[in-house]
Amino acid sequence: MLVFKTKSLLINYLKSFLDLNKPVGFVPTMGALHDGHLALIKNSSKNNKLTVVSIFVNPTQFNNLEDLEKYPRTLEKDIEKIKNICSNCIIFAPSVDDIYEGKTCAASIEFDGIEFEMEGKHRPGHFDGVGTIVKKLFEIVKPTNAYFGEKDFQQLQIVKKLVLKNKIDVTVVGCPIYREKSGLAMSSRNERLSIESKESAAVIYKTLQIAKEKFGTKSAQEVSLWVINSLNKNKDLKLEYFEIADENTLKTCVRKAKNKKYRAFIAVYIENIRLIDNISLNN
Ligand code: PAF
Repeated sequence: MLVFKTKSLLINYLKSFLDLNKPVGFVPTMGALHDGHLALIKNSSKNNKLTVVSIFVNPTQFNNLEDLEKYPRTLEKDIEKIKNICSNCIIFAPSVDDIYEGKTCAASIEFDGIEFEMEGKHRPGHFDGVGTIVKKLFEIVKPTNAYFGEKDFQQLQIVKKLVLKNKIDVTVVGCPIYREKSGLAMSSRNERLSIESKESAAVIYKTLQIAKEKFGTKSAQEVSLWVINSLNKNKDLKLEYFEIADENTLKTCVRKAKNKKYRAFIAVYIENIRLIDNISLNN
């Protein structure tokens, strides 16, 4: 398995693929790979001549230093996992200096307001960091197709906007959420949960499923109130937000419209670990 530690070595290697117009798939990650990441990698590997998997814990998208420091870093294990499932993958694992060249800061990016909803409200600057790194990585890899999980649904919409606004020649492919048997959405952060907390966290998806059922007959406000009240009674977790929003604009649903797609979004803390999830409500 080829592992490139600098962008110049990677760019040099990719030249022959790009010159011959062979499709290059790209799966950007921050490592600590789980089955959700592996599904993205398999999807890309099947549909492209070559797949680049980047493993880079991007400092500029963390608004909390402790979260950045505690983010799991498991490069050797990640390389093994990719090796086991992909024969046409290569890995890009650069250093912060190689990427940011001494200026480790995010550009301020406009995403037509999407950046101020939900995650944007609660993690100021987060999407500037995501936009900055994804743009840099797209410029290095020049992928034909790039794969992102729907667990970070707002991030997926942000990346689509970034591509549109900057006229970047890449197809952004959104892939369904992978879940543990309990229904808990797979996340690298789950590694930090104790067994008991993992069990408690199963309530997140159960609640989303009930919210979806209720949304068939009740208003968005009634559903939201029910979720907020029921989770506030749960001592194992702290609800940060629950929101029912238009899937495209991510604006809060005030009144349901027949031709619109809605999603419920949630963020909770369990044992000080922040978990997010979402569910499509009407498709
Ligand atoms: O979803 C992630 O892991 C990160 O936000 C990404 C897209 C790799 C950018 O650092």
